[in-house]
Amino acid sequence: MSNAVHFEIEGDVAVIIIDNPPINAGSLDVRHGVLEAIERLGSDAALSAAIIIGGGKTFIAGADLKEFGAPLQDPQLPAVIAAIEACPKPMIAALHGAALGGGYELALGCDARVAVAGTLVGLPEVTLGIIPGAGGTQRLPRLVGLPAAIRMICAGERIEARAALKLGMIDTVVEGDLREGAIAFARQLAGQKTPIRARAVPACDPAELEAASQQALKVGRNRPAVRAAIEAIRNTAHLGMDEGLAIERASFQTLRLSSEARALRHLFFAERDSAKHPALKGVAPLAIARIGVIGAGTMGAGIAISALDAGYQVRLIEREEPALARGLAYIAEYYAGRIAAKKLDAEAATERQARLSGSTDWAVLGDVDLVIEAVFEDIDVKKEVFARLDAVACQGAILASNTSYLDLDAIAHATSRPEDVVGLHFFSPAHVMKLLEVVRGAASSPLALATALEVGKRLRKLPILSANAFGFIGNRIYSAYRRQCEFMIEEGAYPEQVDAALESFGFAMGPFAVADMSGLDIAWRMRKAQAATRDPHARYVQIPDTLCEAGRFGRKTGAGYYRYEPGAKGKTVDPVVLGVIDAASASKGLSRRAIAAEEIQRRALLSMVNEAALLLAEGVCERASDIDLVLINGYGFPRWEGGPVFWARERGLAALKSDLDELEHLSGAGFMRSNPEVLFPREA
Ligand code: NAI
Repeated sequence: MSNAVHFEIEGDVAVIIIDNPPINAGSLDVRHGVLEAIERLGSDAALSAAIIIGGGKTFIAGADLKEFGAPLQDPQLPAVIAAIEACPKPMIAALHGAALGGGYELALGCDARVAVAGTLVGLPEVTLGIIPGAGGTQRLPRLVGLPAAIRMICAGERIEARAALKLGMIDTVVEGDLREGAIAFARQLAGQKTPIRARAVPACDPAELEAASQQALKVGRNRPAVRAAIEAIRNTAHLGMDEGLAIERASFQTLRLSSEARALRHLFFAERDSAKHPALKGVAPLAIARIGVIGAGTMGAGIAISALDAGYQVRLIEREEPALARGLAYIAEYYAGRIAAKKLDAEAATERQARLSGSTDWAVLGDVDLVIEAVFEDIDVKKEVFARLDAVACQGAILASNTSYLDLDAIAHATSRPEDVVGLHFFSPAHVMKLLEVVRGAASSPLALATALEVGKRLRKLPILSANAFGFIGNRIYSAYRRQCEFMIEEGAYPEQVDAALESFGFAMGPFAVADMSGLDIAWRMRKAQAATRDPHARYVQIPDTLCEAGRFGRKTGAGYYRYEPGAKGKTVDPVVLGVIDAASASKGLSRRAIAAEEIQRRALLSMVNEAALLLAEGVCERASDIDLVLINGYGFPRWEGGPVFWARERGLAALKSDLDELEHLSGAGFMRSNPEVLFPREA
């Protein structure tokens, strides 16, 4: 028998145990094992029923995604489920932990589903760019109806057992021991087969069905997997089960190999790998209960909310009472909004806010375990804050800075304990954005880093480790991208064309719209600070400086790359800006040319890829796939494109090399060209 499945006997009931740690993925071994178990169940006259249960912490939590990139090996999941249905004896799925994707489909193939409270069930395949491929789109509607099945499958919902019971997705919630409860349930079935395939799809209101489909398409941004899921559910409802299954499977097989599904699988593995830090192996993080946040501005308030939501005690520090009051009011309003939107109940909001205190007296930082500084982005202010912190924080506390660009080592050396200093670079809004760059200073101790990474996880962020280098990972790549976009407006494109091209690629917003939103003055100040050390021969685009000199700092001043009319929604193209751009081109003797959307997209992406290769070669980040996670979770890069590194790998090394030659030529003096080989996984 397969090693991944065990067969035990309890009186007249067989107990089939899936044992494929860590998540009991439904891999080839498991499928073989379940088939063998079904055969044994069928041939042993003393057995009248079986339960299928997961060993360890979970039922089958999902498919083995590694198998999805290659031809699938037999037996495939539909054959296993067909064998369960064909077995004359009832089989009960006993669920705990998670029964997701193929795991829940297998459960749907059984005669009944029982679960302990807390179990998560669902069909999240669309989040991986595919649809359920082993009957999920056929069997779930027979349990919950078509509109609900569309909602659940298209949103990839994971539903807790008690809610799942109400919806009909499981048959009972077992109190007490799952195995015992499931065996008792199996005996009650007394030899009856009750497969879902014997049921009809419940009739529904066509208007409700249409509304559910439209809503799913809207939320799912019309992604191919969402469209395919709706088709597989709706278009087969009037057909027999076998025909429906065949249509579903064909659609699954096509989507499985699509570039979108490959991109999403890449990100799944990238996320899993991002948590691995060989250098920190075996370092146990410190227990953190109290967090101090210095600065209650945009970032500080958001960081405080994030920490409150994660269960920490939070002490918020400001310079003066009015600023503190503003920060506290912002947090109170945020929670009031959550209650009004029914996202949080009043009791939970009160409990969270009760863990918050605000002060202008630094003495309250004396017993916190971690401090996160979010004051003005100015090295002298930061140094002063860290020197003061050094005097009040207890020994062993972790001291973190949210700086975007400043030198973490300079900040760390303002203290007597640089080993306790790390960067925690949150993204705005800090309570929403998933990305968190954890910055390793030259002196940061493994303990400080391991603790920062652990806190990041507890804050439900995606922590990515970066070395202390200008702009860390994300801002450095984003700067290269923005610079390339500025080159293109100098050569002949206009901001609205660049923005439209990149939005059509899938970015939430184009770079010039982003610049207007976040304010042009910040980058301007930085450029002025760097002016003395800049290579005088390097190509420099004057346009953003000219806009700033005219007081055009973006949305907040009503004008930047675009104009923002008071009271009007959205932005308008401003002829003044077009004039500034034309004049800038003329002053350099450039004859403007039309640049096609395809070239805009290609150059913008190549600039990211080039910078990614440079910073990998410099050792700023640990692995290439981290870069994709940063761009997707912090900068609006479209998820379904997999990130710049995935995009580069799809293009292939040879094409990429000649692309970069061209980019180097077009970019002119000062462009640092990378060797893109570092972006490709080494042959084993
Ligand atoms: P902000 O100007 O909104 O807030 C800064 C706050 O710090 C102000 O309320 C100010 O009163 C307070 N403050 C200044 N000096 C202080 C001191 N000595 N003691 C106590 N409080 C003091 O600035 P924002 O945008 O929140 O930025 C804070 C930090 O976060 C900066 O280092 C910035 O680079 C970084 N950051 C900002 C992002 C953004 O999108 N705004 C994104 C990521 C990082």
